[in-house]
Amino acid sequence: MENNFLENYKLEGEKLEIFTYPAPILKQIAKPVTEFNEDLRTLIKNMLFTMYHAPGIGLAAPQVGASIRMFVLDIWFDREKITHADGSEEYRLSEFSPMAIINPIFKSKTGEIIHEEGCLSVPGIYEDVKRAELVSIEFQDMFGNHHELDADELLSVCLQHENDHLDGIVFIERLSFLKKQLLEKKFLKQKLKKK
Ligand code: NI
Repeated sequence: MENNFLENYKLEGEKLEIFTYPAPILKQIAKPVTEFNEDLRTLIKNMLFTMYHAPGIGLAAPQVGASIRMFVLDIWFDREKITHADGSEEYRLSEFSPMAIINPIFKSKTGEIIHEEGCLSVPGIYEDVKRAELVSIEFQDMFGNHHELDADELLSVCLQHENDHLDGIVFIERLSFLKKQLLEKKFLKQKLKKK
């Protein structure tokens, strides 16, 4: 089998720009991946690098401007916040277990779980979202090989959150209309202030 860099992962790559809500690319339905080539693997590597440094536990291709059905995740890695004498902060990252999920298809969704979610495209906003508790998916890896995966708890939530990005849905759109409007206002205000 071809060498899978995810099994021997090294934190290297390039930091990509993360598009934030309401960027139009976040609302598009992403296209299936058809070519499993070096360009795809480079994108995966750079997305993981970007995700770990954010830091975040999941990042979907549309969030970095590529409207394709692919996301990366790692709910297991360790991050330790280091505060330097001059007050600057940095994260020390270790214990990586990255996954790249391509062309995911949900085969089943059962139960219900409420979990607090955040998103690198909606920084500073955290809210409880209702999702299926157990999911089972089929997906392809970066070489196009097919796999199946059953997930519960945080992994299940993460798969559903990231898959939503491929369908043009940001997590705040899973909330009630009023809540969504409130958060949207809050977020856009924060965004304006930062400019
Ligand atoms: Ni997200």
